[in-house]
Amino acid sequence: MWFAVGGRAGCDDGASMATREDKDSADPAVAGQDATRPSIARVYDYLLGGTDNFAVDRGEAERMIQRFPSMPVLVRENRLFLSRAVGWLARQGIRQFLDIGSGLPTARNTHEVAHDDDPACRIVYADNDPAVVARAQALLAGTGVAAIEADLRDPAAVLAAAARTGLFRAGEPVAVILALVLHFFDFGTAHKVAAELTESIVPGSYVVMSVSAGDEETGGTLNREYKAGTLYNHSPKQIAGFFGGLELVGPGLVDAREWDPATRGTASPSNRDGGCILAGVGRKPLAS
Ligand SMILES: C[S@@+](CC[C@H](N)C(=O)[O-])C[C@H]1O[C@@H](n2cnc3c(N)ncnc32)[C@H](O)[C@@H]1O
Repeated sequence: MWFAVGGRAGCDDGASMATREDKDSADPAVAGQDATRPSIARVYDYLLGGTDNFAVDRGEAERMIQRFPSMPVLVRENRLFLSRAVGWLARQGIRQFLDIGSGLPTARNTHEVAHDDDPACRIVYADNDPAVVARAQALLAGTGVAAIEADLRDPAAVLAAAARTGLFRAGEPVAVILALVLHFFDFGTAHKVAAELTESIVPGSYVVMSVSAGDEETGGTLNREYKAGTLYNHSPKQIAGFFGGLELVGPGLVDAREWDPATRGTASPSNRDGGCILAGVGRKPLAS
């Protein structure tokens, strides 16, 4: 594997710290990248402690960290939530996962967690950033895991493209994952995406979602400051609305670090630097 990705706080060691600029520019994973503008996926990679980013991404991330020192902790907690949710879903018997807005391949990605339970689990990653998809395809070659380029604003097209991989079967329960991606869309679009996906999947399927949520002041500052994409600050009530048509499992919609399938009714989210990540897993009821 050519690139080093640190997925957890403190996981990096000196040997894995080569950054993209250090790599051969002929490397197909580096060639064709726009190193002049921050990308959502690369900024996020840096926040996670990864090395799959350019100076412009690191600058953007550091600028955000200056304003919101908790940001690296929050995104790592999001990844840990994702791991707990995927592991639990695999143990519930879910055998196919569609991870939309999947980002750069990061340690303990969805397929690694699911395959720990059953190597027969089928995983499709979808992202609209061609560089992310190229990277994922290179990493996943030979694993039977697919990465496709698709825009989540067109859920029907995402599902059709996933089906064409042969790994996603529309007639079987699936876990659809929308982790830290819905805040890149206005409420109407995000709600429509969640609703259409929920409508399209068969009963017994699950939707995993995590969304950043800041208080009014923090949300406004973040939206103004973040340059890699456009951010929208959805309220907890709006985020709860994304789970329409689903039954929340475990503790419900909670701070990502508190999501544990065995718990019920945990404390309400505690904002750090004015923000938190709300996370939940919803099940499409068998009767619907
Ligand atoms: C913050 S990263 C989250 C990565 C991963 N889901 C996680 O939680 O660790 C957001 C990802 O969403 C992708 N994204 C943004 N807009 C998208 C769209 N319209 N369709 C699909 N993916 C999108 C970005 O390219 C980026 O890789």
